[in-house]
Amino acid sequence: MNFHTRKWIKPEDLNPNETLFGGRLLEWIDEEAALYSIIQIENPRTVTKFMSEINFRSSAKKGDIIEIGLEVINFGRTSLTLACEVRNKMTHEVIVSIDKIIMVSLDEAGNPLPHGKMEIEFVKDRLAK
Ligand SMILES: CC(C)(COP(=O)(O)OP(=O)(O)OC[C@H]1O[C@@H](n2cnc3c(N)ncnc32)[C@H](O)[C@@H]1OP(=O)(O)O)[C@@H](O)C(=O)NCCC(=O)NCCS
Repeated sequence: MNFHTRKWIKPEDLNPNETLFGGRLLEWIDEEAALYSIIQIENPRTVTKFMSEINFRSSAKKGDIIEIGLEVINFGRTSLTLACEVRNKMTHEVIVSIDKIIMVSLDEAGNPLPHGKMEIEFVKDRLAK
């Protein structure tokens, strides 16, 4: 699991219980998964198809720093399957885990498009070619 993005919990991110609002966290996770997938697949028309059970295991409060981790589980024909874990940056306590996020590459008509990718690539390696 690679933790790419850090977030700072601000007042506007809280629910009435004064802890991190789950919808906000899902928005951040979805954006992270989309960015990661678009960079890997090299197709900006890559969308979220499926998320497995979302387990909110602990919470976060105002001022906490959290980090969002992703791991590639599988390169499919048109899809990319990711696992996600969000944790407190300082304590590493897990806040949420998602076993499967399926992202699908689409063509201009919105139909699944084979992406031809089979392994993780790094932008710096692409640029060096
Ligand atoms: C993405 C979309 C085009 C896929 O259509 P579809 O008819 O399911 O297409 P397919 O059956 O060819 O599946 C495409 C890929 O998704 C995978 N997939 C589809 N449904 C899945 C599910 N429930 N669980 C896991 N994988 C799934 C398929 O295995 C396939 O992967 P592969 O090509 O790597 O083997 C269509 O469902 C869609 O447009 N959904 C809305 C997406 C969107 O707008 N998301 C943003 C949030 S609203």
